[in-house]
Amino acid sequence: MNQIILITGANRGIGLALTHIFLNQKDLVIATCRHPESASALCDLQSTYPSKLKLFAIDVTDDKSISQVSQKISTDISHIDVLINNAGISPAPFDASLETLRFQSVRDTFETNVIGPMCVTRTLLSLLKKSSSPKVINITSGLASLANKSNGLFYAYGISKTALNMATRTMAIEFSKNKIIIVAIDPGWVQTDMGGPNAPLSSHESAEKIFNTIQSLSSDSTGHFLYNDGTNLPW
Ligand SMILES: NC(=O)c1ccc[n+]([C@@H]2O[C@H](COP(=O)([O-])OP(=O)(O)OC[C@H]3O[C@@H](n4cnc5c(N)ncnc54)[C@H](OP(=O)(O)O)[C@@H]3O)[C@@H](O)[C@H]2O)c1
Repeated sequence: MNQIILITGANRGIGLALTHIFLNQKDLVIATCRHPESASALCDLQSTYPSKLKLFAIDVTDDKSISQVSQKISTDISHIDVLINNAGISPAPFDASLETLRFQSVRDTFETNVIGPMCVTRTLLSLLKKSSSPKVINITSGLASLANKSNGLFYAYGISKTALNMATRTMAIEFSKNKIIIVAIDPGWVQTDMGGPNAPLSSHESAEKIFNTIQSLSSDSTGHFLYNDGTNLPW
């Protein structure tokens, strides 16, 4: 049976590439983003896959937008197999020092990168629990690794993704009783608006690896911090 996938931040970058790949597999994709009406790439895809792509507005920092979408989709679909918490921000400048860092940007980054995925997951739990093989994928970053930390950069982004990793592990343990596999996956350094043009991976290459890793997840994987190819990363 084909899967039902929900992706946040699906209008560009890695989220859009993942949307393409799941649609190619004939899965049903619920693509969410802040402004579907101006998401031209997603609107074009919808004309190619009219019955397989559903578009909804979710701002992951807006709890109400998340619960509204949950209510709307619950009338049409029975469950969600894979939730991909992909939406994320990395505030500029990435090299702000502790003395120049704006704490409001740290707060905003936590809202989007940590509380957002937790809120989306909580709101969609009842639909995930109805899947025979539910998975939650939190798109994290290699910059989350405490063990590999070797510079004084990325205060807001780095600490938010480390916190997301802890949220992933905590949720994985809590929901092991429901057999929900919950992992954090680092997409690698990817050519997107966030990763910039010098990154070694295209968004399609990264998304393909993430897709293969998602397909190969088992109950043994839950709570792990993985690279895009499924190898374990040091916490
Ligand atoms: N690119 C890399 O090298 C790299 C490396 C490691 C991890 N990552 C992670 O990969 C994920 C995707 O990043 P990307 O490279 O594809 O970045 P991107 O091109 O900048 O895309 C970010 C996506 O997140 C969405 N977003 C931001 N804030 C949101 C909010 N409050 N609600 C809903 N959507 C929101 C953006 O939507 P708008 O268009 O509305 O802004 C956009 O769709 C992120 O979690 C990022 O941290 C990326």
